[in-house]
Amino acid sequence: MAIKHFLQLSDFTLDEFEHVITRAHFIKRKFKNYETYHPLLDRTLVMVFEKSSTRTRLSFEAGIQQLGGNAIYINTMDSQLGRGEPVEDAAQVMSRMSDIIMVRTFGHDIIERFAANSRVPVINGLTNEHHPCQVLADVFTFIEHRGPIKGKTVAWVGDANNMLYSWLQAAQIFGFHLNVSTPKGYDIDSMLVAPDNTHYTKFDQPADACVGAHLVTTDVWTSMGFEAENAERMKAFDGWCIDADKMAKAAPDAVFMHCLPAHRGEEVTSEVIDGPQSVVWDEAENRLHVQKALMEYLLLGKVSN
Ligand code: CP
Ligand code: NVA
Repeated sequence: MAIKHFLQLSDFTLDEFEHVITRAHFIKRKFKNYETYHPLLDRTLVMVFEKSSTRTRLSFEAGIQQLGGNAIYINTMDSQLGRGEPVEDAAQVMSRMSDIIMVRTFGHDIIERFAANSRVPVINGLTNEHHPCQVLADVFTFIEHRGPIKGKTVAWVGDANNMLYSWLQAAQIFGFHLNVSTPKGYDIDSMLVAPDNTHYTKFDQPADACVGAHLVTTDVWTSMGFEAENAERMKAFDGWCIDADKMAKAAPDAVFMHCLPAHRGEEVTSEVIDGPQSVVWDEAENRLHVQKALMEYLLLGKVSN
């Protein structure tokens, strides 16, 4: 039987996401009630990090432990990955000693090559092109705060980065609309968007993208791996900051999200990210709950206890 991986949101159907989201609610409730839940007893998660992380490492490591399993952390610097061992060989070896693997790396082609050589499910913990676990947590967070996301409007103001490409896939799968405003020269790469995705509209002015939105979101101007472009980006992104004026254009009950880490004064003001419409701490916490549900699904299928 083919192994199920989670490399981008389009790897799952809406039906599969509905299952995972239902399980995430259930698993979160158990966690909040201090109820032991060990469906993945003695299972081993390998976490491969080729880039830095706080939330992703913490949520996967805590998550697998809370499900009864254990985690092994590997990074480029002190493993043979940093000395040129082919990713295909690393995948063969790691997947013989573990039950599930999470990979954070650079180009998406690297995780695809890794998954093609893995005997166990591989989860994308962020690539240059996609951050599916984060956007799944964001959708879950919206549902918790405001109910179904279908038919709603989400505003993306900022870089055409991994988060945006995952939001674009989410819009198509969950049936909401994405208003996108990126600065000149940082436009969406159409090669990374499904040709039949009609669930987004581009806006030249960031404020126009926010009009009527039920959720306003952004991300850093310079993602990991693009640090050399930082000075140039600081100039190009001037104006692509979510401030109180932009939030005022959104729906009165709009929520603000940011995957974090954030740079206050660049892509978002303190007033907004630390203000009453911001749900960023719930959003960060929900990484834990949705990823536990995701690992449960990838390893055990549709359980319903
Ligand atoms: N949002 C997110 O993925 O955070 P980390 O880079 O800290 O893992
Ligand atoms: N777009 C950011 C997300 C960090 C969680 C990056 O790739 O650095």
